[in-house]
Amino acid sequence: MNTELDRDAVKMFGFKVWTYKMGEQVSLMIYLGDHLGLYKTMAGRGIVTSHQIADAAELHERFVREWLLGQAAAGLIERHDDGRFELTEVQAAVLADEQDSISFAVGAFRGGVETTVLEKIADSFRTGIGVTYQEQGPNAAAGLARMTGPWSRLALTSTVLPALDGVVAKLDAGASVVDVGCGGGVMLTTLAQAFPNSQCIGYDPSETAINIARSRAADMGLNNCEFVVAGGEDLPASSGYDLVITFDCMHDMAFPNRTASAIRNAIASDGTWLLKDIRSTGDFKRDSRNPLLAMFYGFSVASCLQSAMSEPGGAGLGTLGLHAGAAQALTETAGFGRFITHDLDDAANLYYEVRV
Ligand SMILES: C[S@@+](CC[C@H](N)C(=O)[O-])C[C@H]1O[C@@H](n2cnc3c(N)ncnc32)[C@H](O)[C@@H]1O
Repeated sequence: MNTELDRDAVKMFGFKVWTYKMGEQVSLMIYLGDHLGLYKTMAGRGIVTSHQIADAAELHERFVREWLLGQAAAGLIERHDDGRFELTEVQAAVLADEQDSISFAVGAFRGGVETTVLEKIADSFRTGIGVTYQEQGPNAAAGLARMTGPWSRLALTSTVLPALDGVVAKLDAGASVVDVGCGGGVMLTTLAQAFPNSQCIGYDPSETAINIARSRAADMGLNNCEFVVAGGEDLPASSGYDLVITFDCMHDMAFPNRTASAIRNAIASDGTWLLKDIRSTGDFKRDSRNPLLAMFYGFSVASCLQSAMSEPGGAGLGTLGLHAGAAQALTETAGFGRFITHDLDDAANLYYEVRV
């Protein structure tokens, strides 16, 4: 070892690295808390003992107590001086309330990546070819629907669609809508339910995602909503769509330019393309103001860039690759003339209203 090395600097850096290991362990605990229903059990119960929580969740108290102490150590729940625990209302909004809280975050925790998928990801570094969402396994589609679902579901009809010129009126009257890269169908089913006069179709090349979307639509009893296993580049020309939505998926496509052209050919002359993509600037230094930037690069290497490089010659945009400038260039090249950016109080995304 170099004797000149600053030992304090090494110690500090070592501590930084271990904090990421702590993140891994706490992530696993969050996944277990969700999976075992512990957060939901604690929500609304006030200050309780580990025995009361274990009984209510029908779990073994010793394991529950260790989990609770770890959660308190992580600052995710409260531990009172008398040894009892509490999930406050604020904590419950993020950790327990999947239905009505726009801030629900626990759906993002998947308990790790399956070993076979991890090996495929490692292989992509050697071959230069990534894995599609379908190949990323069943957890990927279901996990994504839970991760982005609450915000999108709760904000779509209240905030996002009303920001677009004339779109809500068209949907009310009965419009033709396509969701390209629809994943598990959270957005399209929300839209189909809110606008029963409209006809909705979802496209995604992942059969796993489409099956999830179909069951969601069936569970909701929707008959104005269908799904096909196909990519955006396969949209039939001259479909006359009034509204095309692409949510967090253009940067995942191997050839986003082909999808953009297909959208141009499929959209009605007065139709709207609502493109939602990750908030980035194309400049690493400016993006570094985002305290969660490293997480977004992690999503990219493990998921988005995988998909975007899943075919030889893929564009490889990745999670942060479709910043506003790149999105505008993509749509202009495809033949769209109007491009409006909407900043809708969504920390992770920007929304682009694109028209011919
Ligand atoms: C991050 S997910 C987003 C899913 C959904 N729109 C949402 O917001 O939850 C990206 C989706 O893009 C899909 N995708 C990848 N390549 C595609 C292509 N060429 N055409 C359409 N969808 C594609 C993937 O299968 C995946 O479901």
